[in-house]
Amino acid sequence: MSDLARHRFEYETAGLDVGDVHADPMVQWQRWFDEAVAAECTEPNAFVLSTLDAEGWPQSRYLLLRAADERGFTCFTNYDSAKSTELAATGRAAMLFTWLQLHRQVRVTCTVQRVPEQESDEYFASRPRGSQIGAWSSPQSQPIPDRAWLEQRVQQMATTFGDAVVPRPAFWGGWLLRPVAFEFWQGRPSRLHDRLLYTPDGERWQIERLSP
Ligand SMILES: Cc1cc2nc3c(=O)[nH]c(=O)nc-3n(C[C@H](O)[C@H](O)[C@H](O)COP(=O)(O)O)c2cc1C
Repeated sequence: MSDLARHRFEYETAGLDVGDVHADPMVQWQRWFDEAVAAECTEPNAFVLSTLDAEGWPQSRYLLLRAADERGFTCFTNYDSAKSTELAATGRAAMLFTWLQLHRQVRVTCTVQRVPEQESDEYFASRPRGSQIGAWSSPQSQPIPDRAWLEQRVQQMATTFGDAVVPRPAFWGGWLLRPVAFEFWQGRPSRLHDRLLYTPDGERWQIERLSP
């Protein structure tokens, strides 16, 4: 615990300035992610995904990030779920990463698209068998009668697949979230926090400081 507290203190003291950050926000995000892993933040790849539903209500939920590269961020879910319906309808989303031990958050505004089928196949094949059967069993976001109904579906699916390889359901796969803006936030003493906003400027990114 004391080590983590010291980490936070050091980051707060050092602060965040335009001269400290990488010109490419994905590289900067990767640096902060690596520091969150090194600081043993809980589930460092968990993020909040926010979407807008058909009535204009914002909807938020946690997801686990499965890849980050020059294309953007990738996560996996049920394509018939509420979130996927909202992603498909709007083509937009917001991501929020928080690494509280380091007193840091990153907001990312994104456009979204499905990942190529082959990527979803490869990731699905890498999942534990229980998770694969779980994906087939759960009509995610739909009302179900009770827990017993779900457990019975899992039993049925396990029997159906027997010892065979479990294929990826067509209703399950990945979303690629392609950033159009990033905000890096570093907590500082006396609420005088550092905020750096990246927005596209031709081929490059413009970086501006925002007031806390
Ligand atoms: C830490 C954490 C990680 C999660 N990761 C995922 C995930 O990667 N994929 C997923 O479909 N749901 C994940 N969930 C569950 C979602 O938060 C959510 O309950 C579910 O996807 C249904 O959301 P929807 O009805 O808005 O589509 C996670 C929940 C938590 C708390």
